[in-house]
Parts: sequence; C-alpha cells; structure tokens
Amino acid sequence: MCGIVGYIGPRPCAGILVDGLRKLEYRGYDSAGLAVLDTRASVAGEPPRLDVVRAVGKLSRLDDALREHPLIGNVGIGHTRWATHGRPTEANAHPHLVGEVAVVHNGILENHVELRRELVAKGRKFASETDTEIAAHLIDIELANGASSLFEATRNALSRVRGAYAIAVVSRKEPDVVVVAKSFSPLVLGIGDGEMFAASDVPALLAHTRDIVFLEDGDIAELRRSGPKIQRLLVHGDGSPERFTVTPVVRTPRRVDWSPSQAEKLGYKHFMLKEIFEQPAAIENTLRGRVVLESSDVDGTEIGLGDDAVQRIRRVVLLACGTSHHAAIAGRNWIESLAKIPAQVELASEFRYRDAIVGEGDLVVAVSQSGETADTLAAVRDAKRQGAKILSIANVVGSAIPRASDAALYTHAGPEIGVASTKCFTAQLAALVLLSVWLGRRRGVLAPERAQRLLQGLVEVPSQMRAVLEQADACQRVARRQIYAPEARDCLFLGRGLSFPIALEGALKLKEISYVHAEGYAAGEMKHGPIALIDAQMPVVVVAPRDQHYEKIASNVQEVRARDGRVVAIVTAGDSSISAMAQDVIEIPEVDPELTPFLTVLPLQLLSYYAADLKGTDVDQPRNLAKTVTVE
Ligand code: AGP
Repeated sequence: MCGIVGYIGPRPCAGILVDGLRKLEYRGYDSAGLAVLDTRASVAGEPPRLDVVRAVGKLSRLDDALREHPLIGNVGIGHTRWATHGRPTEANAHPHLVGEVAVVHNGILENHVELRRELVAKGRKFASETDTEIAAHLIDIELANGASSLFEATRNALSRVRGAYAIAVVSRKEPDVVVVAKSFSPLVLGIGDGEMFAASDVPALLAHTRDIVFLEDGDIAELRRSGPKIQRLLVHGDGSPERFTVTPVVRTPRRVDWSPSQAEKLGYKHFMLKEIFEQPAAIENTLRGRVVLESSDVDGTEIGLGDDAVQRIRRVVLLACGTSHHAAIAGRNWIESLAKIPAQVELASEFRYRDAIVGEGDLVVAVSQSGETADTLAAVRDAKRQGAKILSIANVVGSAIPRASDAALYTHAGPEIGVASTKCFTAQLAALVLLSVWLGRRRGVLAPERAQRLLQGLVEVPSQMRAVLEQADACQRVARRQIYAPEARDCLFLGRGLSFPIALEGALKLKEISYVHAEGYAAGEMKHGPIALIDAQMPVVVVAPRDQHYEKIASNVQEVRARDGRVVAIVTAGDSSISAMAQDVIEIPEVDPELTPFLTVLPLQLLSYYAADLKGTDVDQPRNLAKTVTVE
C-alpha cells in the first residue's frame, strides 16, 4: 500500500506534493513525509540542500510540521505510509535519507534481510527498520562507486532487489532530476507543461494534468522538466554474464476523462457518503453505450471473445478479494442463471496459493476496483500461465490487472476515494449482469424477451436507486436505534440467493468503518450454528426482497424472532409478512428479482455509514486499512 508522489518543474513543490498525498491518503495514513531539493544555494555555487520533513499520523500532522519547517524548492518527492516493515514511527517514515539520496517507496523488498545483513557487514548504519532504507543505501553506494547519474545508480541498485516497488528518488548530486521505477506496485506519470509529476494513482495528478503515462512493471524513468526518459530494466537470473539489461521504451500518454472535482467531497461530510449517492450516476456510466435495447442485447466488443470462443467456454472462474469478491458471488449466480455456464467464485488470496486447476476452456473473470490488488493480480497471472482466458472487470483504467488480462470491461464509476467501496461495488454488479446477458445471448440460452425485460430493468435501476437513497434519514434513525445502541455489540446480516452476497457486503461495510463485529450469513445456514448467537441484544439485518427465496427467509425471520432477536428487514415495497415481524423496515421498489442486489445493498451501506458516523470513527480512512492492497 502506501502512496508516493514526485514533482519537478518551475513551481514551489511542497504544496503540490502534499495535495497529491492528500488524494493518496486512502492508501495509507500511518505517517507521511516530503524531501525537497532547495537549489537556491547552488546559484551561489553551493551544493543544493536536500531537506526532509516527516511526521507520524495523518497528513494534517505533516502540515503542522511543514509550518514549523517549511520546505522550499521545485523538485521533491513525498510519501504517505501504511506500515509493513517497522512500526509507524518518525524514523520509519519516508523519505529515507542516506548520504545525498532521498527515497520513497511503496511495496516490499523481499530480499531485505540478506541485503541488510550485507550492508551492515560493510559498515552501513541504519536509522530505520524499513526495507526502503536498504534501497537508499544501495543507490548511495552506487553513486559513491562512480555511477554516472542518479538514473544509473538507481538502475544498478534496483537490479539487486527482489519484490514489489514503486520508488521515487532525488539526490543533491543531480538536482534537476527525479528518478522513478515500478515493479508490481502502481506508478503513473503526469505530463505537464514544462513540469512532470509522478504518483501512485491518477487522482493525485488530476489538479495538474490529465495526460497520464501508465508505467509498466520493470520501467525506470528519469524525469526532467522537459519530460520523461523511460527504460525497461530486465534483471537476469544467476549465471547470466550480465546482471541486467536495459532497453529504451516509449510509453504514450493517455488522456483520462476523470475531472478534478470527482476527487473532491463537494459538500458531503465524507467521500463514502458522496460515493453512496453517486451510485445511480456510476451505474449509468457503466451501462452507457453497452445496453442495446433495440436488439435485446449487450454490446460486448470490449469482452474480446469471438463467437467460437464463447461457445468453447466450459466454465467461468471469478477471482476477487473483499467487496469485489461479494460482487463476484452475485456474478456467479447471474452467469449460471442467465448464461447457463458452470461458474465458481474464488478468493484470489486462496486461489493463488493452492494447486488450483484452470486452463483452456475456462474464462477467468477478475473483479477489482483498483485493478492493483496484489492477490488478484497474482491469481490472474497464474491462471494465464495455465492457459485460461482472462477478462478483468476493473475501475481504474490502465491498472495492472486489466493490463495482465486478455480483455477488460471497465466500470467507469469515477475515482473512489473512501476506503470502503460502495459505488464501485454496484458498478461491478452492473458489469457482471452485462457480461452474463451477453454470454447468455451468444450461447442462445437467454431468450430475447427475457433479455429485453432484464436490460430494461437494468436501465431503470439508477432511478430506483435514487428512490432508495431518499430514505437516508430513515437509515440514520435505524442505525442509531439498532446498531449504535450501547447494548448492540455485534450484528448479523442474513440473505439467500442474490441477497447472500449482499448480506456479506453489509457485514463487511459495518466491520470496516464502524468496528462493530458483524457476520454475514446465508440464512439457510443459521440453524447450523449462528442461531446460537441470537438474543434480545442482537440486531439481525435480514435482506428479504420479493424473490424465489422469500418464503424460506420469512421462516428464518420467525426463528430469529422466536429467540427475541431484533430484526431490521430490507423488503420490497408493499411487503406485509416479514415487515410485520420486524422492528424496523426499509423498503426498496419492486424490481426484477435478478436485480434486487442493486437496491438492497444501498440501505446496508447507509446503515454502516451512519453507525460509523455516530460512533465518530474515521469513515473514509478506517484504522489499519488501506484502499488498495498491493501487498500480500
Ligand atoms: C472494500 O470496502 C474494501 N476496502 C476491500 O475489501 C476491497 O474491496 C478489496 O481490497 C479489493 O479491492 P479491489 O477491488 O481494488 O481489488
């Protein structure tokens, strides 16, 4: 995790770097720091100064530190940290300054133990417990040994490390350059007019430029005001006469269509709340240009599979983590019910470490908001090695998972800043319905009339979502009464069929932002254990829209009530039986039973949001979490 930024240009850079870090704070917020080259002295023939300011805690602490020790200069790097190696202390905060070099890093250097041992044996003294400081020492040594440039020194140093990194380096020896490199951790460049930016993610650059270069793994770049010089570093295994080779590469900038205001709160108290309310628009964007009502079909050009390839699919394997995994569970149900293809869902973090068998005839669908989740990326690479076709459903254009895939279906939900995923979840659901309809129509198992009703229903989902979101105040009252109540320490979420992944998602949302212990359960599993938890203190949120599971889940609600459990029911408008048993009821409009997840998840997101807000937790940046999990 962690976020890094870099700047070189004519403007004072400290503010630019801190603003960039603010947009990356979702990636980690244990500590932050800047290193800035002050070249004013060099005018008088003195070497430039390289000053570092770091602070433990959120960026506001760095702001305070910078007020006390302002950093002046036009070239610099910055970092916001999610601690991996070493506690969140000032000594472990980045940038790490060694000799005349400062380094920021996102990732993990896997051979850090052996390298540290080697450097200590050479008399090198370490000021921190981090793996990053090793990289700073290696670069410093290369410079001392006569490397002709910071670029060369960084390149030589990186040829010695294994693992994941996005790194940015500055040095007093070469004050008109920032060197950056990427391997497995995300890194993008922003091309300005006479200035260059680097960052872990696009939102950090949007205030300055929308011309973005997405670096590839193995890229190392020298950034000057005039532009980047990029090379590809290929490190050879042992036994090769040359340790590495480098070849120049050209990476063409892409113009991204996100606007700077999309990365602002726009009057909402939290990004999460704004993003909850952005969901109708996000779904419209996911559907735009893809639903073809005239032919009761989906334009699936981006899916990149010809008719023969579609017929040859024997199985669909969905890979994802966290919230995206919950979307994938719903996706599995749709692929089976609409396309009649056997489908299974896998947690990427499990799939990659067992001897999972995939291959020809398998369509692997990787679902990821960020497109950078380390486990999903590794699982995709593994599946590809085994010969499966890979389609990714991602939000961040040009991110690693789509790049590692054969084709990508982007959700176009706009930047999601809140650590708790909301709008990207429902946008993923929309992409998965589109995929299922497209497959079903190609394989001749989904009748045009059924596809037409479904697609028409999907197009109407955004306006139905708006109607559900109008009940935000009611959700706030229920959150106060049921979840924020002092006696409620745990919470159970129940659902069946398509409401099961929604129950899982409701529980995950509550856990991650309000720190209330919650479990999501398939309601049919209640009798196999969780029913023992039910008592008069236990709020049970039941996701029970009108669908084929209604009667079964109504029985489950009776079982909860018979044990004095407190029931909050999410039901379809006009419901009477479950509503009569529940203490609190939130209604969704009548919708095709296949599409209920789009609506039932909204009250759950709002319940979690308001419970967390009432508790006063840090909703957008909950403790211990980072939005993009780029470490294992
Ligand atoms: C969602 O609220 C979480 N923060 C988390 O579970 C997330 O969904 C997971 O880390 C997967 O991320 P991805 O979609 O970017 O791959």
